[in-house]
Amino acid sequence: MVVGISFFVLFSSTLSLAFLLSKWFSKGKTKNVPKGSLGYPIIGETLSFLKAQRQDKGSEWLEERISKYGPVFKTSLMGSITVFAIGQAGNKFILGSPDDVLSAKKPITLKKIFGRQSLVELTGHRYKLVKGEMLKFLKPECLQKYVKQMDELVNATLLREVTEKETVGVVVLMKKLSYDLSCNILFDIKDEHTREALFVDFTLAFKAIHSLPINFPGTTFWRGQRARARIVDRMIPIMNKRWEEVSKGVLSSTNDMISGLLALRDENDQPLPHDLITDNFIFLLVASHDTSATLMSLMIWKLSRDPEVYKKVLQEQMEIIKQREGTEERLTWEEIQKMKYTWRLAQELMRMIPPLFGSFRKALKDTSFQGYDILKGWQVYWAAYGTHMKDDIFENPEKFDPSRFENPTKPIPPYSYLPFGAGIHYCIGNEFARIETLTTIHNFVKLFEWSQVNPEEPITRQPMPYPSLGLPIKIKPRSNMP
Ligand code: HEM
Ligand SMILES: *[C@@H]1O[C@H](CO)[C@@H](O)[C@H](O)[C@H]1NC(C)=O
Repeated sequence: MVVGISFFVLFSSTLSLAFLLSKWFSKGKTKNVPKGSLGYPIIGETLSFLKAQRQDKGSEWLEERISKYGPVFKTSLMGSITVFAIGQAGNKFILGSPDDVLSAKKPITLKKIFGRQSLVELTGHRYKLVKGEMLKFLKPECLQKYVKQMDELVNATLLREVTEKETVGVVVLMKKLSYDLSCNILFDIKDEHTREALFVDFTLAFKAIHSLPINFPGTTFWRGQRARARIVDRMIPIMNKRWEEVSKGVLSSTNDMISGLLALRDENDQPLPHDLITDNFIFLLVASHDTSATLMSLMIWKLSRDPEVYKKVLQEQMEIIKQREGTEERLTWEEIQKMKYTWRLAQELMRMIPPLFGSFRKALKDTSFQGYDILKGWQVYWAAYGTHMKDDIFENPEKFDPSRFENPTKPIPPYSYLPFGAGIHYCIGNEFARIETLTTIHNFVKLFEWSQVNPEEPITRQPMPYPSLGLPIKIKPRSNMP
């Protein structure tokens, strides 16, 4: 009996000791990964995520998972486990992480279209070098010099595309306009034929970014890659000519971004490979034109349907023209700074309808957030949705109110207003976007009077948020200056 009991005690204590020991040794090995379904093998939940984006149900897609698993959850997208961290704390973790922990490296569809050496694929010294060169063309001192040229281009393009027409599609017009502005001003591609041909291929390439990564003749992804190859072919002679001109000193490195990147030397005093420059040309044109076109379309959509807002914008813009009387006709940098209400309108539109739904990061090391492990090789995704529409950050978030950006009763906390992202990868084109948007709206209200063909036309993500029918408007030259 005694033997029996002591055996039992010994047995059970050994067992619990073993249990404790195993716990101890496995500490650091057992991972506490976020909850969430990985969906189907390989494709994971890619289909439902892309579909939700296209059908403008991205926020529902998120809500469904947040309610099941909480604001930090995992899924599998584009062949890789992907952790979402929704809300301000999540944004801060993702956007505030150093580049060697969470890099901006993109899933295969984006990488294949942008190229292996686009800015978002680069890290460390190379990343800083290339971004530094781009910034030379996007910093305010340089942008001031573009205002006049931008104004001329916008005036000319609007008049050319609109004159003699009774109705125009605003979305197509804005896409064309923002593309022409980037091509002209940032890259000095002035040849009309080249620009047109490139535009067709950029449209195809852009579609592929949000497609399934199935590379089979006829798929969107396949077409996008072929379009990319044609863009590259077209860029080679342009690049070679510029290279020659820059080498001979005929063209200054400050002429445009391509010349700037060609003249750049790396840490070993070597020029950058031409394919890196092509990759970044493609990346920048995509990053700059559809985003800005979205914002400009949203602005005209809002002006068409909200007389109150229209009146205020018209007043502000006409006041600028009035004060100009007798001096130079062209828009100036100082005048851009006076367009305060017009820009607040843009800010409020981008709060309620952020052009970019969110974006990917890739873990280059194991990391963790709120006790959840995120393993090397996984993707992470941030979304603007988690803070833009929350009432602890924006009072009455459902209410459209540009004045909230005028004198916010409480300052907007960091990492919660993200139309241009935040942290290391904060949009370097935000000032360029502001100037081109304000220049476009200025000219649009100055030159035309218009009305919506479909007054009920909603905004849908496709996956960029555009008026669902392309915003056709009846348009005519302004008859009187108010
Ligand atoms: C309204 C217009 C625009 C919007 C809403 C927008 C939005 C954004 C956002 C959200 C990011 C961060 C992405 C991330 O965190 O992964 C970003 C990055 C970037 N944007 Fe923009 N953008 C706009 C216009 C432009 C323009 C006009 C340019 C170029 C002239 C540009 C160039 C870039 C570049 C190069 C990056 C990457 C920066 C980096 O990774 O360091 N964007 N943009
Ligand atoms: C706008 O463009 C038209 C047509 O090209 C031109 O006649 C006009 O002078 C331009 N307006 C301004 C203010 O430059």
